Amino acid sequence: MEKSNGAGDGQAALGLSIPKTPSSHSSAAGGNASPPLIERPTKQVPVFPHFLPNELEPLAWIAGKWIVHEPGVVRYPTMKADFKYSERIEFTFGGQKMLDYKAESWNPAIGPTALMHREVGFLRIKPGSTDVALVIAHNFGVSEILEGKVSENSMWLMTSGISRMAFAAEPAVVANRRTFTFDPATEELEHVMEMQTTRTALTEHLRIKYKRDTHQVPDAHK
Ligand code: HEM
Repeated sequence: MEKSNGAGDGQAALGLSIPKTPSSHSSAAGGNASPPLIERPTKQVPVFPHFLPNELEPLAWIAGKWIVHEPGVVRYPTMKADFKYSERIEFTFGGQKMLDYKAESWNPAIGPTALMHREVGFLRIKPGSTDVALVIAHNFGVSEILEGKVSENSMWLMTSGISRMAFAAEPAVVANRRTFTFDPATEELEHVMEMQTTRTALTEHLRIKYKRDTHQVPDAHK
């Protein structure tokens, strides 16, 4: 019995038409056949969550994946010049009564592989209230909890606890205030972060606008 190569399985069921990869037996060039490409079917996935538990309804406007719309700006009184950055962030429903959070920034002059600041965490809401908490682990050795309020189309949070590894760079971060605002007219999400360090009072460090991200992902339904 002829074995399937796996790449074509399920295509008909998905209604996808994938061009056949050339087999090593059908090289028209006569002998210099490159290895067959393994093409996986892809499809557009709407990332706006169509289902959220009732407890997370107040966060529905921010749930999903977001990608930079215009390069963001990093600034701080200690910096010689402003710096442009790109970022993708997500607040995704992972099956528990919270949203899983992830943020990755990069230098747009180089591209998405030039990663800069990265964060992972969880966004929680106190049941039956508008009280929210964002737990974040930062890639530079700092973890923090921010607490605040969510309302229709906006959320603000202020650091309520922070800790840092012994060899984190100076100056130490004392507190951050974050504001997320969604504009239904433009469908842009704006994120502003102000930062206080041991040397500088609370001052804006980040400002960026995102749009919802729909992107191609490999089809897992094979
Ligand atoms: C998109 C995310 C971020 C980017 C692209 C970014 C980028 C930068 C850049 C370019 C500098 C200046 C470095 C220098 O002058 O040598 C800087 C400084 C700094 N950043 Fe960020 N940053 C980000 C997020 C954060 C966050 C979330 C925190 C804190 C939790 C943070 C804490 C700091 C601190 C403490 C400094 C040093 C400030 C000083 O020297 O006074 N950054 N950042």
